[in-house]
Amino acid sequence: VSDAPRYVTVLTRGFSGPEVRRQDPSKALLSAFDLAATRGDGAFEALLVRDGRVVGRHRHLERLGRSAAALGISGPGPDAWAALVDDLVEQWTARPTGPEAVLKLVLTRGDEGRPGPVTAYGTVAALDPALPRQRADGVHLVVLCLGVPAWGRRLTPWLLPGVKSLSYAVNQAAKREAAARGADDALFTTLEGLVLEGPSSTLLWREGRHLCTTPMNYGVLPGTTQAEVFDRCGELGLRGAERGRSVREVVRSDGAWMCSSTRGVAAVRSIDGEEVSQDPALTAALQELSGVPAPVAARSAA
Ligand SMILES: Cc1ncc(COP(=O)(O)O)c(C=O)c1O
Repeated sequence: VSDAPRYVTVLTRGFSGPEVRRQDPSKALLSAFDLAATRGDGAFEALLVRDGRVVGRHRHLERLGRSAAALGISGPGPDAWAALVDDLVEQWTARPTGPEAVLKLVLTRGDEGRPGPVTAYGTVAALDPALPRQRADGVHLVVLCLGVPAWGRRLTPWLLPGVKSLSYAVNQAAKREAAARGADDALFTTLEGLVLEGPSSTLLWREGRHLCTTPMNYGVLPGTTQAEVFDRCGELGLRGAERGRSVREVVRSDGAWMCSSTRGVAAVRSIDGEEVSQDPALTAALQELSGVPAPVAARSAA
């Protein structure tokens, strides 16, 4: 994978607005003083490119706009980002190295010492094969407490609840901790033990005819995959609901899933070693609804 092709396109300021400019991916792009590098001060998005098509483009561009607004960064508008996405998809589809790729959009506040233009660019590269594998095989989770009460993030907007900021060092550390404990991913909980989300995915679970997720006002990131699945789950006779639940209640529910743009919908097999009930037919149906069915090739022989 290390020498697989990957692509970079930058949004620059042209005479009549933002322009897309392709960049050699092996060449440096950011200033050493860019606030992304010095402070993690910016926002990003990660989108799936599947068979030459971007999944959920509109929802991602909307969320990027909301993140930028929450950070007080006045970045390029959705049309400029859409042109950047098109350019990256064009590069990928000209020479794809697999059926799926991850397309990232990055917006930073710009140069630390010289207030001026923001930095805006995108990348596209092959998807980590672990993600489609997890979509097919499911995931084992470990619980990691965030140490804040469920209502805490409502009172602390400066902690940027629900913003997809570039400051993901905590999320990365949580993934490493989960891996060190032999799990596929972490499940964050509140101080009281209520479930939140994963470091890069939304938790869903079923309670009878309700497909549930964490209340957004607990400060979780509003997921584009969760939103798509909730919009369409009526087709399966289910209704979307936000509910505050403990880990135990989710373990005893009628099934649970971790979902994100790049992972798609993956069944939760266990939480802290406790088995969660499996419903392969519903998993496949939710994957169809999300726009990212499990690739046949990735399905395990088991
Ligand atoms: C913290 C967090 N929660 C949830 C998600 C899932 O969001 P989406 O479905 O838009 O990928 C992500 C995705 O990156 C995330 O970083």
